[in-house]
Amino acid sequence: MSESRKLSVAVVGATGAVGQEMLRVLSQRDFPVGEIRLLASKRSVGKTLQFRGKEEPVHLLEESSFEGIQIALFSAGGSISKKFVPAAVKAGAIAVDNTSAFRMEPEIPLVVPEVNPDAIRDQKGIISNPNCSTIQMVVALKPLHDRARIRRIVVSTYQATSGAGQKAMDELFAQTRDLISLKELADPEAFQHRIAFNCIPHIDVFLDNGYTKEEMKMVEETRKIFGDDSIAVTATAVRVPVFYGHAEAVTIETEEKITPEEAREILGKAPGIRVVDDPASNTYPMQIDAAGQDETLVGRIREDISHPKGLCLWVVADNIRKGAATNAVQIAEHLVRENIC
Ligand code: A2P
Repeated sequence: MSESRKLSVAVVGATGAVGQEMLRVLSQRDFPVGEIRLLASKRSVGKTLQFRGKEEPVHLLEESSFEGIQIALFSAGGSISKKFVPAAVKAGAIAVDNTSAFRMEPEIPLVVPEVNPDAIRDQKGIISNPNCSTIQMVVALKPLHDRARIRRIVVSTYQATSGAGQKAMDELFAQTRDLISLKELADPEAFQHRIAFNCIPHIDVFLDNGYTKEEMKMVEETRKIFGDDSIAVTATAVRVPVFYGHAEAVTIETEEKITPEEAREILGKAPGIRVVDDPASNTYPMQIDAAGQDETLVGRIREDISHPKGLCLWVVADNIRKGAATNAVQIAEHLVRENIC
């Protein structure tokens, strides 16, 4: 991004999996950062992190941490956001919050820049970044929704451990190493069960309706981002032993029929999407291709043989980049481009 103004940017949770990616994305996209302020818990005070080739100190997150900050990117968990986002806003910053703390508040925009950038105009100091699984799904579905109006979405996710933070990735690594070396395993801490060589159909807490909170986030956030409460959504969210990248099997029913050929053509022209769809050459999106880049990969596009207006897709993206850090930085770029801050 080319911009002569420089902004003071705070990263809350800078030492975490998403926070560190935010630093990489800010630097890679050449975001006009004047001062960078890295904030984390007292455990990290005294540490430094590299930003644009320079060692930057990590400071303790406090209410007074936001003096002079224009954009504060939050990714240190919902309770930290609830406590400290108001302090950032009071100090005059715009907070882009990667947690679920404010996502469903009606007056707070929930934004994916490829899908509903205009919602940013309604911001009053806080903009929420959606859940990672929701982001990649709505990026892939918005162009199809615009063409044929989606009435129902059935989605199953295959979600990487990085979505649960650095400790969760460490747990996958340690369990895999210990199983292969025939060592006794430590009790799982990040997940309810062993994640190595296993899939766990349980992300976030269970709710009274039998769905998990992660699944209901996909339902509610999708409706809010599309501005259409009549879309029916059902989700099953599964944690898989992968480090980076979420995959999703998505089946949609549309008001008007849309053929796979037409869907491929529409998605091929849509922002942020790469169609990867040539079964004849074993070509389809996979986590190993999505990891470390910013596009949402879509493939396995085919007619749903169980419904006359159904379409099936396989959608993969890097959950830490497009699902979190990149989306937040894109929102910040929009704020700068539109002179909002
Ligand atoms: P710290 O490294 O000091 O614990 P992840 O999602 O990868 O687990 O990262 C969580 C991020 O949130 C880390 O940067 C972590 O900092 C930060 N964090 C957790 N608790 C607090 C807290 N009480 N105050 C400030 N930052 C926190």
